[in-house]
Amino acid sequence: MTNTDYRSLASQLLALLGKETDALAATSNFVALLYNAMDDVNWLGVYVLRGDELVLGPFQGKPACVRIKLGDGVCGTAAATRSTQRVDDVHAFPGHIACDPDSRSELVVPLMADHKLIGVLDIDSPSPARFSEADQQGIEAVCRTFGELQESRDAFI
Ligand code: SME
Repeated sequence: MTNTDYRSLASQLLALLGKETDALAATSNFVALLYNAMDDVNWLGVYVLRGDELVLGPFQGKPACVRIKLGDGVCGTAAATRSTQRVDDVHAFPGHIACDPDSRSELVVPLMADHKLIGVLDIDSPSPARFSEADQQGIEAVCRTFGELQESRDAFI
């Protein structure tokens, strides 16, 4: 269970990234801020939409799969359906892609800017059912803030 203060995280995000015009720098700090604000997480990062696949972007954790097709695994499903995937047991998710064998539960949130998909945020935990409904809502709100900040930039990563 978590006691992350998502409201404070969203305002820290605005302070940290609000004026930054470089998407790579901003996204790198986005994942670092989130990773350090959450306990019981072994991997947290962004996959960027490039054509019909997701490509690994800034992250914290062990080296991971570089390319994921839309519709594949938890990340590809979140991207293809534009909907958050909160998976209590990754081994029970059909097609789950095991990048880090320590991962047991996962939360993947689509990143949208100007109503378009730009990528996904993927968070993995070594504990089953680590992510609650409150975590999902908090992370979705933080991702909306990230997307709104991205709208003022010329290009994503
Ligand atoms: N497990 C993910 C792949 C990405 S890694 O966990 C970093 C998936 O099934 O999409």
